[in-house]
Amino acid sequence: MRNPILAALDVPTADEALRLVRQLAPVCGGFKVGSELFTAAGPGIVRQIRGQNAAVFLDLKFHDIPHTVARAVAAATRLGVQMLTVHAGGGRSMLQAAEQAARETAAQMGQPPPLVLGVTVLTSLDDEALGQIGCEPHAGRQVLRLAQLAAQAGLRGLVCSPHEITELRQSLPSALQLVIPGIRPGTVAGDDQKRTLTPRAALARGANWLVIGRPICAAPNPRAAAEQILNDLASP
Ligand code: C5P
Repeated sequence: MRNPILAALDVPTADEALRLVRQLAPVCGGFKVGSELFTAAGPGIVRQIRGQNAAVFLDLKFHDIPHTVARAVAAATRLGVQMLTVHAGGGRSMLQAAEQAARETAAQMGQPPPLVLGVTVLTSLDDEALGQIGCEPHAGRQVLRLAQLAAQAGLRGLVCSPHEITELRQSLPSALQLVIPGIRPGTVAGDDQKRTLTPRAALARGANWLVIGRPICAAPNPRAAAEQILNDLASP
């Protein structure tokens, strides 16, 4: 089985990120670089992680006019990332431009294109908050609407919360890759993630990739924490 764990490097410095990558590279399928680390350490951190032969998920959630997003996606593709995120709410043209830029840039490089993942509704937005920004005040329906738009625009994957997996799997093409944060191994006590699922349960519902941050990276022994999750996944 391919290792589905993407460790979220939610740390403020390149040194801390690279320390985690050295420990975790043999036991994780890739590393998520988000806004904090990218803004602090710059694109060099992505090159350094790729230099260790590890896969990178660049989670910068691009949302801009199609031309600008296409150029940002092209730049991320040239950095050699395997996955990146765009906001599905940026609209059909923006999503199409993102996917096209990933494919064309990768083709010029003779590489497979990175997976452009659509982000639907941030889990921090509830129905009331959606109404305030002029969206359908029903998070579930808004997620489905944006997920369908992203799939129709040609995106090959989505980021979604654990409780959305089942419905999205029922209503979207089965080839769509689902990348799931909010994962908590049974052993970890509660934090600010409210709707969580264990790694096994998420895969059973149809997740392809599991984004796991604090349960691995903030553990006293990150390598042992990741190994424990892998062992749980492999056990019958
Ligand atoms: O530490 P934890 O496992 O909660 O980290 C999850 C990662 O996934 C973080 O980088 C967080 O920003 C991201 N994420 C999330 N929930 C979402 C979308 C992204 O936790 N709905």
